[in-house]
Amino acid sequence: MSKQILILPGDGIGPEIMAEAVKVLEVANSKFNLGFELSFDDLGGAAYDRYGVPLADETLERARAADAILLGAVGGPKWDTIDPALRPERGLLKIRSELGLFGNLRPAILYPQLAQASTLKPEVVSGLDILIVRELTGGIYFGKPRERTTLENGERMAFDTLPYSESEVRRIAKVGFDMAMVRNKKLCSVDKANVLASSQLWREVVEEVAKDYPEVELSHMYVDNAAMQLVRAPKQFDVMVTDNMFGDILSDQASMLTGSIGMLPSASLDVNNKGMYEPCHGSAPDIAGQGIANPLATILSVSMMLRYSFAQVAAADAIEQAVSQVLDQGLRTGDILSEGCRKVGTVEMGDAVVAALKNL
Ligand code: IPM
Ligand code: MG
Repeated sequence: MSKQILILPGDGIGPEIMAEAVKVLEVANSKFNLGFELSFDDLGGAAYDRYGVPLADETLERARAADAILLGAVGGPKWDTIDPALRPERGLLKIRSELGLFGNLRPAILYPQLAQASTLKPEVVSGLDILIVRELTGGIYFGKPRERTTLENGERMAFDTLPYSESEVRRIAKVGFDMAMVRNKKLCSVDKANVLASSQLWREVVEEVAKDYPEVELSHMYVDNAAMQLVRAPKQFDVMVTDNMFGDILSDQASMLTGSIGMLPSASLDVNNKGMYEPCHGSAPDIAGQGIANPLATILSVSMMLRYSFAQVAAADAIEQAVSQVLDQGLRTGDILSEGCRKVGTVEMGDAVVAALKNL
């Protein structure tokens, strides 16, 4: 039976980086006989332009039917002034929520070749390998009520709500512990339990889940301290598990340890490991259409897809090895450029990965 992959390039640099990832995916498909069939649709601003909504019902149905989804990025200034309910980001949040993709894995790995590209000292980041497990379908991103109103005195006011139920915390905590078990058995749960009620429950439930994982060394850290520790001594972390908003912020921060957010892939998984795979970076409208965006985060997302949704370990390893070889060759997009390396554009970078993969 063939496997269906739905490709959603999205907005901004999305289509450019996705074109390169698709080339790599197609080579892996034939080289490793994966039997993948690809189909394409729109999400975000592109979907708004085509369907009038950031996620069309038919696209959602296709996503439900697919075995895995590969996504570029959404958003851009073109859609900043439309009805907030129709913004490109709403399409992304809706697909995450509708498909129950609660477990977001964001690995921050420093390729040794990029030690010079990080803004931190090489000795602080060399050998870095962190996995951030972010809760993706709950918390303040989805909490109700969420409102904008006018007070009696005429002042505008708005509020969001940060709810977490016990079961939501338990299932993401389990993902964190399971990931720690197959890595270095260290889990740091990040919260703001000194202030927030939702974080106090979070910590309580994580402690309960820990009883099933006696081998994992569990620690708790407040999010402000975690932000500091991530730049002070990032190698103290193995797996970090945290809520939706803290995970959003900390994963951007962790990305800079690796040289560039252009290097960070991610997987968003449901209870059955069905997943959507996307780079952690956004649609970068400032550089869209210039052919200079780094396609490696999306290419590495393909590798995560092969690993997590299809257990195609050899093919996943091969893509990562091809990326590493290309970095060895000294090829760099602008975001990871350092002295002595050759600056290339999006397409040349993708072609180099394709060539390396073919030759493996
Ligand atoms: C991310 C992005 C999204 C998020 C935006 C585009 C809605 O920043 O995937 O990290 O906040 O989750
Ligand atoms: Mg983000």
